[in-house]
Amino acid sequence: MERLFRSDNGRSKIFVVLFVVFALYTLFVATSTPLIQKQDGFVANQTTRKGKLLFQEYNCISCHQFYGLGGYMGPDLTNSYSEKGEDVIRTFLKNGSDKMPDFGLSEGEIESLVAYLKLVDASGYYPVKEYELTWFGTVINKEVDLEKLK
Ligand code: HEC
Repeated sequence: MERLFRSDNGRSKIFVVLFVVFALYTLFVATSTPLIQKQDGFVANQTTRKGKLLFQEYNCISCHQFYGLGGYMGPDLTNSYSEKGEDVIRTFLKNGSDKMPDFGLSEGEIESLVAYLKLVDASGYYPVKEYELTWFGTVINKEVDLEKLK
């Protein structure tokens, strides 16, 4: 061992140190709890799947966005469920507005679309307004109440 280290000007030692650091960091990442977790209600079912298909069928994304991506005629719908509430969503889906078309949706279709928007809402936050950088480079979303999620 001694001869091995001396023969390569200590490069093996550096390698061993780096390997140990790598192994410890890997262990840390693998065992630490995720900082951002899925919320209650983030469970897909038959109704939310139907809502997703309807969202695609009616091409809602041509005017709306999820997480900032989509068309820009209407507002971002990522958190519309928690920010505007179910009643507002239902009203828009049932009647449209002067800017949004009335698709003549059935009660069942509205039910599914509302369930889908609720699911998307539970998947995360957009835009993230308050966040903090940790020393190890991870972003913590301050809007997620980790205590509540436990
Ligand atoms: C032709 C573009 C267009 C399409 C297609 C469209 N929307 Fe809209 N939508 C809008 C506009 C514009 C508004 C804002 C209307 C207003 O404030 O009067 C809106 C508002 C909404 C709102 C209220 C959100 C908020 O934050 O105020 C919801 C929910 C919504 N749309 C859902 C949908 C769904 C679901 C579909 C597909 C079935 C869809 N929209 C298709 C243009 C569209």
